[in-house]
Amino acid sequence: LSVNLVTGGAGFIGANLVPRLLERGHRVIVADNLSRGRRIFLEAFEAHPCFQFVEVDCAEAENLLQTILPLHRNKAVECVWHMAANSDIPAGVADPRVDLKDTFHSTFGVLETMRALGIPCLRFASSSAVYGDLKDTAISESSGPLNPISNYGAMKLASEALISAAVESFLKRADIFRFPNVVGTPATHGVLLDLIRKAMASPGGFDILGDGTQKKIYLHVQDLISAMLFIGAQDIGRHNIINIGPSDEGITVREIAQKIRSKVAPNAVLRFGMESRGWVGDVPRFRYDTTRLAALGWTPQLGSAAAIDKAIADIMLQKNASREAPP
Ligand SMILES: NC(=O)c1ccc[n+]([C@@H]2O[C@H](COP(=O)([O-])OP(=O)(O)OC[C@H]3O[C@@H](n4cnc5c(N)ncnc54)[C@H](O)[C@@H]3O)[C@@H](O)[C@H]2O)c1
Repeated sequence: LSVNLVTGGAGFIGANLVPRLLERGHRVIVADNLSRGRRIFLEAFEAHPCFQFVEVDCAEAENLLQTILPLHRNKAVECVWHMAANSDIPAGVADPRVDLKDTFHSTFGVLETMRALGIPCLRFASSSAVYGDLKDTAISESSGPLNPISNYGAMKLASEALISAAVESFLKRADIFRFPNVVGTPATHGVLLDLIRKAMASPGGFDILGDGTQKKIYLHVQDLISAMLFIGAQDIGRHNIINIGPSDEGITVREIAQKIRSKVAPNAVLRFGMESRGWVGDVPRFRYDTTRLAALGWTPQLGSAAAIDKAIADIMLQKNASREAPP
């Protein structure tokens, strides 16, 4: 039972990780600047004796250190789950400073804080975006070359490089999890929320980014958290890079749009774009080789299509799904 710092804990994935850590009896400190996350996602835990929230920008290394220092003196933080990052790929294409600050500098700030305070263990939310576009191959952790095609992916890869150097000098353990597309609630961004909002706003018909042929794997957030907790509990060395995802072929955007149409707006005309990718930096096809994860003894409960079905149902029940969540 340890003290865990969850950066970005007020976001989609963080807000699902927090209760799973509390359930296990751990203490949890969430550090988030609330740029995309929402305090309301954590309201169920605000009164929990083992929960604490601090509003801080992880990219401001000195501020982060000064914020965590007194908490760490009170009870030593043993593990940082670094989930804070820019999660909006197009935002980083429009302004590269977004990924530089929220993804790369936040990793730098976290590592500086860990170095100064002697916090031994880091778990990092990396991404399939580090692989770039490797076409229609089942991507393993040793696939390459690693040529990201978005600033988002570039800054995730650069963050992984910083972590690698930190393992050599001061970290006792780093687990780098390469997530695929993760779905579920509370959705803050992503293809499902985007299409569900569009279908709710215009039930007669809505636009889909790209021609619908993009085919990718999807993981339900509850499976993702289970995988991270499982891997973290394994005795597997100091520096681990692991793809987390299903081993299926994935599902197309056209199939996803059809599922949403049937649930939200049965009469809608689906208007597809002309391009094979949805936006600059979109990888049109990817799937994972998950041999490493399977060899550890973990497989997801839901494959891509089942994860999408569950997430659509979850998001439709989400109170703020049809509009931007209030800050
Ligand atoms: N959701 C996915 O499909 C997916 C896929 C691959 C990787 N990831 C990674 O998983 C992590 C969590 O993603 P998410 O989907 O929950 O996104 P999210 O945007 O919902 O959560 C990110 C959180 O980080 C916070 N944050 C951003 N910049 C910060 C900063 N400088 N200082 C402090 N807090 C900051 C935001 O306020 C937000 O609460 C991110 O690192 C993301 O890149 C997500």
